[in-house]
Amino acid sequence: AKPDLAPTPPMGWNSWNTFACDINESLIRDTADAMVSSGMAAAGYKYVNIDDCWMAPQRDGNGRLQADPVRFPSGIKAIADYVHARGLKLGIYSSAGSHTCQGLPASLGHETADAQSWASWGVDLLKYDNCGEQNGIPATTRYKTMADALQATGRPILYSICEWGQNQPWLWGANAGGHMWRTTGDIANNWSSVMSLLDQQVGLEQYSGPNAWNDPDMLEVGNSGLTYAESRAHMSLWSIMNSPLVAGNDIRSMPASTRDLLTDPDVVAVNQDWAGRQGAKLRDDGDIEVWSKKLSDGSAAVVLFNRSPNVATIGTTASALGLPASSAYTVKELWSNAVRSSTGNVRAQVGAHDAAMFRVTPGAAADVAPMIVVEAVPTK
Ligand code: DGJ
Repeated sequence: AKPDLAPTPPMGWNSWNTFACDINESLIRDTADAMVSSGMAAAGYKYVNIDDCWMAPQRDGNGRLQADPVRFPSGIKAIADYVHARGLKLGIYSSAGSHTCQGLPASLGHETADAQSWASWGVDLLKYDNCGEQNGIPATTRYKTMADALQATGRPILYSICEWGQNQPWLWGANAGGHMWRTTGDIANNWSSVMSLLDQQVGLEQYSGPNAWNDPDMLEVGNSGLTYAESRAHMSLWSIMNSPLVAGNDIRSMPASTRDLLTDPDVVAVNQDWAGRQGAKLRDDGDIEVWSKKLSDGSAAVVLFNRSPNVATIGTTASALGLPASSAYTVKELWSNAVRSSTGNVRAQVGAHDAAMFRVTPGAAADVAPMIVVEAVPTK
């Protein structure tokens, strides 16, 4: 049976968005160190994922995949040991075809041997791409065959299906053993890509749940093609959609502002909370969108999202969010940590390409506008 490795959306880092094939073992080791020292690990980011280009151009004499001798001279097991020693998990990559997207050997027809190699090295996650010759074998079969091979190793390995949404993997990914599945083509380091992927998620909410997450692709938070506001909107939206949170920036050198976007405890808590349905778009007024998600403590998360190039005032209400009637609500804006008591309105002025993100809880905020008590200093 599929191992219970992703009861909440997986969190980690992946080499592809920033480094593509320019990877090597010291990058992975230094990133693992930075995951711990930056606070990413403590915030929940556990997987360090090596994407395409880790493997040598040829299989070895026994037909086994082997690490590229220049990029990974110590081999993958040594990297896994290094990552595990820091309390992290190691992810690796292959493709359900003859070759990876970068033309390197991949796993179609080698599923059992390759799964055994990864298990013997201590790998904890497989991202399985969709490039190379497929010999006319349907995606459902190609992806299920690898799931069976992974499970047969006896090692719990999180299975990330990267089929780009071509055959509606939300309909079969869970039964094919996947813990998550890409719903789209690749994200790119620019705002229009992030927006295009976002728009393609609408309607998929019903297919996601524990050990079966829709994956709108890895984060570009903190990367050069997005402004700070755009990174904050991207993080807000991916969090409320229960997306796997897989950072795609350079963790070794990120500024504190990027770290704070990725690790905000209230925002991550919204992402990790499962109350029965992933967040969804509640309202669409063109450039103004409201996204919401019920949370398991009876509160609701909401993202007030401004796609326009101008500042906008955006509002919704507790009743529109489906919250029970109450004389007062506690409204917390999660990026600023501002807390207000409200009779039901949730409003914010939101900058261009930015988002405000709230948690709205029935009941007054105990710590808002407290009575100030001035006491005389007792005399001795
Ligand atoms: C296509 C995938 O969708 C990307 O995320 C990345 O893994 C590349 N292939 C690697 O070649």
